[in-house]
Parts: sequence; structure tokens; C-alpha cells
Amino acid sequence: MCGIVGYIGQRSALPVLIDGLRRLEYRGYDSAGIAYANGEGIGIHKTMGRIDDLKNILPAPLPEARVGLGHTRWATHGAPSDRNAHPHETGGVAVVHNGIIENYQQLKARLIAEGHEFASDTDTEVIPQLISSYMQKGFHFEEAMRMAILDLKGSYALGIMSASAPGKLFAVRNGSPLVVGFGPGEFFFASDIPAFLAYTKKFAFMEDGQIFTLAAGEEARLERLETNGNSGGNSGKRPPEPELKIVEIDWTAEMAEKEGYDYFMQKEIYEQPATVMETMREWLDDPMEMLRTMGITPKMILGLRRLHIAACGTSYHAALVGKYAIESLAHIPVEVEIASEFRYKHLLVEKNSLFVSITQSGETADTLAAQREAGKKGAHTLTICNVVGSTASREADSVLYTRAGPEIGVASTKAFTAQMAALCLLAVALGVKRGRLIADEAETLTGQLKKMPLLIEKALAAGPHVKEVAASVTGARSMLYLGRGINYPIALEGALKLKEISYIHAEGYPAGEMKHGPIALIESGLPVVVVIPMGSLFEKTLSNIEEVKARGGRVIAVTDEPASLQGKADETIPVPSTHPVLSPFVNVIPLQMLAFHTGVIRGNDVDKPRNLAKSVTVE
Ligand code: F6R
Repeated sequence: MCGIVGYIGQRSALPVLIDGLRRLEYRGYDSAGIAYANGEGIGIHKTMGRIDDLKNILPAPLPEARVGLGHTRWATHGAPSDRNAHPHETGGVAVVHNGIIENYQQLKARLIAEGHEFASDTDTEVIPQLISSYMQKGFHFEEAMRMAILDLKGSYALGIMSASAPGKLFAVRNGSPLVVGFGPGEFFFASDIPAFLAYTKKFAFMEDGQIFTLAAGEEARLERLETNGNSGGNSGKRPPEPELKIVEIDWTAEMAEKEGYDYFMQKEIYEQPATVMETMREWLDDPMEMLRTMGITPKMILGLRRLHIAACGTSYHAALVGKYAIESLAHIPVEVEIASEFRYKHLLVEKNSLFVSITQSGETADTLAAQREAGKKGAHTLTICNVVGSTASREADSVLYTRAGPEIGVASTKAFTAQMAALCLLAVALGVKRGRLIADEAETLTGQLKKMPLLIEKALAAGPHVKEVAASVTGARSMLYLGRGINYPIALEGALKLKEISYIHAEGYPAGEMKHGPIALIESGLPVVVVIPMGSLFEKTLSNIEEVKARGGRVIAVTDEPASLQGKADETIPVPSTHPVLSPFVNVIPLQMLAFHTGVIRGNDVDKPRNLAKSVTVE
């Protein structure tokens, strides 16, 4: 939700900032802007639209500057427009912001009463206005900045610079992600690592209530910052200054490029054989080692009465697959909840229970809040997370990293299969430790998991056929997705992908639930995607197909048993067979491709679907 960048050093700042913004565009894309400081004061260029639109309004040649800020916006307060685009500047102070200032209306009213005039409808503009109002009252810029921050309530990652301190850049974090990159004599900051991977692999992950002061050629200064949430306690003692920890990241700049594909989403779909294997590689030969490394003790496992998982969106669907896998392999009851619901309900999380958050970004506000709530109740918190150093990974008691690499396409694909891989390994390890899975069964499962890259390759081979099917549904107003058991979450995920990318309305249902209502939706030609693997539920799902056909629906079956569906389904998309618990891995692939091709054929920007942003860092 909004991407912010900053640079200070010896390079020409504008190309660096624009490059960084381009790589963060998945975080928001309704307006963009940059600010820079040089001998002539602060210059600002901003516009409604995307980074390409910003490039089109920049003067040629680009203004020379060694320091600057940039922003790509996902609108929260104020419609997408030139005037609401960041950076916002008042009295020579320029600010970019990701997050929400919850008390901006009170602050704005106070400032207006003091005679300040606002140029935008955003919550952000109160920040430079506040700073300059304190400066007008005689405070030095840095003092004014700190006082203004103390006035703010809400979540924010901020980049700030001032014409009165042209050699300095300030990065502030309170509730929204921010990383600082280190190069020789230069600094970068960004909402997310991919922004500057081409320039550095060394990053520090900021914590809430911290401020970095960055000046070219000098040591970076990291300090604790007083904010509205941490302004004191009553001990009277100031906590120690934070320690600067720089982490070397093993992602490469190429990983965040399209590498010959037309779209990131397409590249990420095709990367799945590799990303699933990368996620499992370390643990496949001994899933128990995974539990040991995470500090999950045999005592805790044997004492578990149930397990809680919370996540949002696609990660929530992975959680549902995890529930089926853990319940069937380890016989531990699993409660799965949407994180935004979990955080506000009466929590029945026992002390010493296990709470799992699943999050690609590690920055989703609701998932972080759910994790914190579970932690407060005394649960051991484990996060299944894709971004090393993210907030979820820093705050959880244990981390199980998915190794999917940077996911840039806004619609999640490779993170989903990586999350399922981590959960299946967890299910196997818990099953063995609880004595519910004998060694032979565990070996069969890990043997099938080892073959998963190959099986996913085979599922991907249906791409050209799926593209034809996509062409046949592009005119649909609505679609249904049906599945049963562990493939019910796959029906949900297929429907979510289609909605996000093609803007066709779609619903996922457990196939057995059709007769309880949704069957009323079926009319002549309605495309109904049915996930129907061979297994104990095959016959039952076949009956559901008959019911759809009898009412004129057009059945598109995803199956490892195409022969048995001849004459029953209108289209069959074949996938390879595998262990029933692992069938979601192969079944989701055609559904991802169906959504992708449908979106492309409909002329949508599938990497940046309308109204969405990759990391939902606000509630
Ligand atoms: C859908 C999608 C979202 C995310 C959700 C959670 O394609 O990408 O539904 O899955 O916003 O994000 P993370 O996993 O980063 O917490």
C-alpha cells in the first residue's frame, strides 16, 4: 500500500529514485511523484497515473540532485489526482508517506485555525504542515520534525527532507514497513527490498519508533524516536538507543525482473517447480529437523490441543489447505481464521498453544495484529513468511521461510504453492511426532513432495489448452468454482484469482453445498470450474457435475482422471496424479493460468489489477 523511496549519495538521484519506484509500483499505482534537493531548493514533480506518466512529465535533461524522495500511491484519503499525489511539501519540507494518519482531521482543523492552507485532501499533508508550523514558531527543522511526529496517531513510514538541511534525508518508521540500504558513501530507503536490489544487498530493517538520519559520506545515525505510541511510560528512564543491524540479502536484482516473460504473474506461475522445491529443500530429508530449528519442542507438540492459523486472502486459502493436511496427517484440530476477524474476536487461544500466521509479505497489518494478539495470550507464534527481515518474521517466536523469491505480481501465485509446501512439511513433521504418521507413510509423502516440481511442470504443460478455455470464458459475467475436501480451498483460490485479474465475478463453493443455495445461479452456459481429483470424493463430485449439467451449466473440469469425465464435462484440463493431500499443488496451476489468460485476453494489466496493492499495510 504505497511505496516510498529515498536516496542520498554521489549518484544522480532522480534516475535511482525512478528506478526504485518502478520496482515498487506493485504497492500502489494511482499516482506517483518525486522530490529532490539541490542548490536551488526543493523541486517536486508529481502526477496522477503510473511511473511512466511521471517520467513523461519530468523535464529533460533530468534535474541534477544527489538527494531525493519518491512515492507511488494507493489512495486511502483523497481520490487519485495530481493534487493528492505525494510528495507533499510545505515551507521547504517535503514528505512521502505510507500508512494512515488516524488523527489527521483534528490536526488539520488545528492547523487551519492557525491560518495554514491545505493543497490536498490527504491525511499526509498534515505532516509537512505541522513541521513548518513548528518551524514558524521558532523551532529548528529537526526539532520541529520530532515534535510533529509526536502529534501523529496511526501508522506511517515516512521519508522527509528539508530545504534547510539539504544534505540530509530522514527515514521514520511506526507501523509501516521501511528498509534502509547501504552502499559505499550512499544510502537508500524503501518500503520493500526489491526497490534497490540492483544497488545493494545490505539492508537494515527498521523497527517501530525509529528514525534514521542519512547524510552522504557519513555514518548513518539510527535513533529511537518518540512517537504517540511509545512516548514514555512512567519509568522516567529513556530506553537505550537501538543497535544498527545490517543484513545481507540473498535475493538478486534479476529475481525481481521479468526475465523474458511479458508479465511478472506469468513468470511467477512458471517459477513454481523451482520455488516449491527451494522452500522444501532444507527439510525434505528430515522434516523433524524443521521443528527443532524453529524451537518447537516435543513437549509442546505432544501437549497441543489445537492449532490456530490466521492469514488474509490467498494466504488464508493456503491456511485452509494446511488445516486439511494437519488434521488428516497429525490429527490435531486446526482453527483457521481470516486475520482481520481473528484480531477482534474473543480469543480462545490457550497458553503454550501454537499459533501460525501465514504471510507472503510479512507486513499485512491484520495478520501482524493477529500474531501479536496470539502472542499476548501466551501462544508460541510461528510465521510462515516469504520476506526475510519482515515485521512478521522479526516479531514471531519462530519463522518458517518460504523461499519463493520476490513476488512482484499483485496476484499471489508462487507464494501460495510455497506456503502449501511449508504447511505440508509441517503436517508431516507433526504427524510423525504425534505418532499419527508411521515412518513409511511419512516417506511416501516426502517422496511425492520430492516429485512435486516435476508434477507442477506437467500441470503447466496444459498452458496452451487453458488459454483456449480462457478465450471461451472472457465474455462470462460470472463463474462458479467447486471443489471438495482439501480442494475446496483451491476452488476459493481459483475464484479469487479470476476476480482479481479478469474482473469477472466468481465464487468458490464446496461442491456439496450447491444444493443449499448456489445452484439457483446456474443458467444456460454459466461456466462452472470443478476440481475433481480421483479419490474418495470423485463419485460425489461427479454427481455435482451432473447436477450442473442438468441445469445447462458449462463444466470445466480440472482432473487427473480425464477418461472418466468424457461426455460428462464440457472441457477437461488434465493434471498429473499425486497423493490426495498433495493434489492442491497440481490443481491450482490450471486455475492460476485460467485467471491469467482471461485477464490478458480482456486487456487488463494483470500485474497491477485495479484497486489492489500488493502489501496491505493498513487495516
Ligand atoms: C491475492 C493476494 C492477497 C494476499 C493477501 C495477504 O492474490 O495476493 O489476497 O494473499 O493480501 O498478503 P500476505 O500474504 O502478504 O500477508
